[in-house]
Amino acid sequence: MNVPLLDLQAQHRSIKDEVLAAVHSVIERQAFIMGAEVAQLEQAVAKLTNTKHGVACASGTDAILIPLRALGLQPGDEVIAPAFTFFATAGAISNAGGKPVFVDIDPATFNASPAAIEAAITPRTKAIVVVHLYGQMVEIEKIAAIAKKHGVVLVEDAAQAVGARRKVDGQWRAIGELGSVGTLSFFPTKNLGGWGDGGLMVTQDDGFAAKLKSQRLHGGTREYYHDEVGLNSRLDTLQAAVLLTKLNHLAAWNTARRRIAARYDQLFAGLTPVVAPKVDAANEHIYHQYTIRAERRDQLTEHLKAKGIGHKVYYPLALHQQPCFAFLGYKAGSLPVTEKATAEVVSLPIYPELTDAQQDAVVAAIKGFYGA
Ligand SMILES: Cc1ncc(COP(=O)(O)O)c(C=O)c1O
Repeated sequence: MNVPLLDLQAQHRSIKDEVLAAVHSVIERQAFIMGAEVAQLEQAVAKLTNTKHGVACASGTDAILIPLRALGLQPGDEVIAPAFTFFATAGAISNAGGKPVFVDIDPATFNASPAAIEAAITPRTKAIVVVHLYGQMVEIEKIAAIAKKHGVVLVEDAAQAVGARRKVDGQWRAIGELGSVGTLSFFPTKNLGGWGDGGLMVTQDDGFAAKLKSQRLHGGTREYYHDEVGLNSRLDTLQAAVLLTKLNHLAAWNTARRRIAARYDQLFAGLTPVVAPKVDAANEHIYHQYTIRAERRDQLTEHLKAKGIGHKVYYPLALHQQPCFAFLGYKAGSLPVTEKATAEVVSLPIYPELTDAQQDAVVAAIKGFYGA
């Protein structure tokens, strides 16, 4: 049985009438730029994340770039980030004029550890970007305390974590709630995916929200008057309409992903060459990815390919080892936990419509490879 890594057509079939009606409504009104759905989406995501402001933009990459641009970074200003993440996290730091300072991760959760972040702080540090990787939050309360103590901005790259929560002092906290800003991606493959590129920033801070809005649109609050130079990074109304429709289903979809992840955990129990993902007890994971560590990973992925089982390595080369960051001078072995992860991880099919039979086929292929 062939099993795709992700099946967006299955999702589309389940919401087709609803989403087409929403899109049709925008077309009838010809309200393509900053139509009512954009503000509705901003409010809905702010509500979901217990934050005061939502500011939609053109991509998850811009959602990181815009707050960093708002800081007015000067040459040599440092921004701390994990090296085990998608490129956009660090690309945005560079494009905002900052110098990425890469930190290592916790081997259990794959997320940057508070201790590594604090150790990387220098007098030049202006911001920390954390990534809630694969759909599980970082230890946000500890990292927010570090950011506060050192007076630096905390950007939460939540591109993979829309709907994730973490219990802090008995209270559920969402992405973006405790940091300076939380950033989302609506890339089609994300848990909340649009029909193209899209992104959104959430923040509690009125002043920061105003800066984000200014940076999103040519650096001005009044048409044709510009206080600074900004971007043109709006979210299309059509995308907002699609996303508002899908947002109604997000909680159920994330619950389905958790059920599938729990079933994988059970099916892999006792299979020693495979380490199932570990969830910090305070976290509610949304399993954007179900990522295992696997012995002989590269041979396993060849085997999965031959069997028609979808899979992907997120990420095969850490950011401190990318050619474009060679000038930063990191050597092999400088971030050992990250480097080990890049050699061991592989993500398996997980999406709400995945059937038990499909999941069994994934597990059988892996067990077959290890002769279990
Ligand atoms: C961790 C992370 N950050 C940033 C991004 C960038 O988002 P986008 O592709 O919407 O620009 C992505 C997704 O692609 C991501 O996974």
